[in-house]
Amino acid sequence: MNLLQRWFSKPGAVRRWALASVIANVGIIVTGGAVRLTESGLGCPEWPKCTADSLVATPEMGIYGVIEFGNRVLTGVLIAVAVGALLAAWLRVPRRSSLVKLAAAGLMYVPAQAVIGGITVWTNLNPWVVGLHFLASIPLVALSVALYVRSGEPDGEAVPLVPRAVVLLGRGLVAVAAAVIVMGVVVTGSGPHAGDADTPRNGMDPALMSQFHADLVWLLLGMTVALIATLHAVKAPEGAIRTAYALLAVELLQGVIGYTQYYLDLPALLVGMHMLGAGVLWVAVVAVPFSLRKRIPHPGAVPLHYEIHGEREGDRIVEAAEKEAVEPAV
Ligand code: HEM
Repeated sequence: MNLLQRWFSKPGAVRRWALASVIANVGIIVTGGAVRLTESGLGCPEWPKCTADSLVATPEMGIYGVIEFGNRVLTGVLIAVAVGALLAAWLRVPRRSSLVKLAAAGLMYVPAQAVIGGITVWTNLNPWVVGLHFLASIPLVALSVALYVRSGEPDGEAVPLVPRAVVLLGRGLVAVAAAVIVMGVVVTGSGPHAGDADTPRNGMDPALMSQFHADLVWLLLGMTVALIATLHAVKAPEGAIRTAYALLAVELLQGVIGYTQYYLDLPALLVGMHMLGAGVLWVAVVAVPFSLRKRIPHPGAVPLHYEIHGEREGDRIVEAAEKEAVEPAV
């Protein structure tokens, strides 16, 4: 089996690359936060080059240059993972246009985010642009989650597993979570970690903005509890109930971090954890609407079973059990 086959065309390859993409996109939210929290945002004062004369950070620029340039290098990792996902979707047999489109959209989006990063530098860390840079990661994470879910289910009609009102509640949760995140970015723009010590703030009142942010979090929590109760009431499938409980657990943890950082005057480590929490929470909430429906495969669709339990050898799929019988495990 050559490298191309081993990495990209094994059954389940798209799913693995999609998972890598979810992790990488949440990871870069946190490393972007590290740039802000260490006040390294202008560690490289130019973009796309680090300085007018150098593409990379130079020793004179010290640790700030290393941190900011390090975050730029991570964009390369993001692109590599997005290319991997697209290759895997393209080489999948049979090819599914739904997966190719999602993977291609993910790849095309990364440069847009890199350009917003550049504008962040050009505007000397304007807090609204810094906030936009964070928010631009949100659709990218959602795309990666969609690719992960879609690569684990067949193509076909999406059929709801719960009554329509519950489906709408699931979508409402995503909208409120997005509002919580937008409001969080506004809180950050008003506070001590907006850009670096010298950049202007957005002029909003940090205490009032934090209050609005936390109010929306309480709404989100209430809706999640309502969803869980409803899912039990309508005897929804186990997977949907598990997903809702996972969301509730992340919300509670993130809420505790949020209040703790607020009352401790925003220590950088907790703010960093809050950013990680926001990324994980977004993954958990985007998974909710997917868990409330299933796809009925097209008549000619290849059974999903092979993707998970088999391996492709040449142009045929060998099931794991069949393979073990031929090559007994040592
Ligand atoms: C569902 C739970 C929550 C989510 C998803 C969430 C999300 C976010 C996001 C995305 C940011 C912006 C991060 C950035 O721009 O770097 C933020 C900032 C913030 N959040 Fe939350 N948050 C949650 C709960 C809370 C709670 C309960 C509080 C309590 C008051 C809180 C207080 C704050 C504060 C003070 C900031 C500004 C941090 C700074 O200045 O760097 N959060 N939040």
